[in-house]
Amino acid sequence: MPIETTVSVVAEVPDGAEFLAVPYASDLSPEVELHLPVTELLAHYEAKGEAGEIVEVPVARAGGVGRVLLYGVGDGTPRALRKAGAALARRAKGRDTLTVVAPEGDVAAFAEAALLAAYSFKIGSEGKKPVRALAFAGADAEQVRRAQVVAQAVALARDLANTPSSVKNPAWLAEQAAERGVPVRVWDEEQLQADGFGGILAVGRGSASPPRLIQLSYTPAEPADRHVVLVGKGITFDSGGLSLKPTENMKTQKTDMAGGAVVIAVLGALAELGAPVRVTGLIASAENLPSGTAQRPSDVIKHYGGRTVEVLNTDAEGRLVLADALAYADAVLDPDAVVDVATLTGAITVALGRNVGAVYASDDVLAKQLLEAAETSDDRLWRMPLIEEYKPALESSIADLANVESGSRFGAGSITAALFLREFAGRRPWAHLDIAGVGRSTVDEGTLTKGATGFGVRLLLEWLTRA
Ligand code: BES
Ligand code: MN
Ligand code: ZN
Repeated sequence: MPIETTVSVVAEVPDGAEFLAVPYASDLSPEVELHLPVTELLAHYEAKGEAGEIVEVPVARAGGVGRVLLYGVGDGTPRALRKAGAALARRAKGRDTLTVVAPEGDVAAFAEAALLAAYSFKIGSEGKKPVRALAFAGADAEQVRRAQVVAQAVALARDLANTPSSVKNPAWLAEQAAERGVPVRVWDEEQLQADGFGGILAVGRGSASPPRLIQLSYTPAEPADRHVVLVGKGITFDSGGLSLKPTENMKTQKTDMAGGAVVIAVLGALAELGAPVRVTGLIASAENLPSGTAQRPSDVIKHYGGRTVEVLNTDAEGRLVLADALAYADAVLDPDAVVDVATLTGAITVALGRNVGAVYASDDVLAKQLLEAAETSDDRLWRMPLIEEYKPALESSIADLANVESGSRFGAGSITAALFLREFAGRRPWAHLDIAGVGRSTVDEGTLTKGATGFGVRLLLEWLTRA
């Protein structure tokens, strides 16, 4: 469900606003005149001015009691303002309108976080509704508009990934992509066969719902001198295939198309944000199921462009569908940079946990740009190394490559997966985001709700619009 909270910008705090949020700095002084003993109140509640701190004060209002929420903004950095914004939206759950006196600083980050905290995905009617309306007083209207576009794009990515796999098969994902207001091209099974997309076909063989390759194209109003290709992993359910996962690991795998969801959501928001670069999105989509028609461990497949791969583990399927899309991008689309986004390996969760995503890059300039965008956007990244000595892990005795290491001499599952992808990306600047750890949240806290996070949308929109 898109974020239902409506947003407006008002010039001044309306007289007698019933539900009003006002920032205070660490010297505990608010910016607007409230006719309240604010300093004493804050001291009474031992408020420290930290971001996320809220002191709620009942006030007399025409016909009843209103509330003033005094909110801390910490050091006023975008990170602190995000925390403050999210805390306010959470506190306002179930309410009608919250008027928010905007803080000093990055209002876009503040409003974006408030909106993300108001996101929910419910099939059923349990629970409190998000605040109906947020009215920002004294905020820059353009910053608030940008925040809304970005937050709705994150919400779309979350919605797609939270949708149960009984609903979302590859064809459904293609339909969703077709609703983004940009030109779309979809390869069905026959066309995949005709063009030699052997990886996508092999992974999709076991399912009754056939695979798709989805291409979205954004062209800016002004002619662009840069062309970026985004590639998303679109596994609508990952059971592991014949290399079947145990239930505990399988039950989270409806979000294995989170990378593809990010690409779809980003392509749908670029026009509204006036991104100056040409962007092509590719979503390699299949359902990875075991059956009498499924691929087997030991099968050899032929990827787009002719390279052969020995499939030693059908659960390492993400790299197989991505390899086709990367090879196609390199051979046909002539991009200046390629970035893929994928819930690729459980191993990256061991390395970086659930708060920080991994970026691998063949190019230092591209890596630096993405790391900067990560810092600004709050989709945090850490650069991981492409360790050359681990390349022999992917040697096969009968094919050009194996999709996993046979033994355990090298380990480093996320790194060897990245090395596999690099083989198909060509010589162009390429980066790979392994979002398996950050793609879903186990907590309902701050800007996150349980389930899909939409990680990567804010990062890529930041990179593509500010570049
Ligand atoms: N989709 C999984 C990775 C994953 C795991 C995402 C947990 C989110 C949460 C991927 O296709 C996979 O199964 N990877 C294997 C690779 C292994 C077979 C080399 C893994 O991580 O175990
Ligand atoms: Mn898998
Ligand atoms: Zn997977």
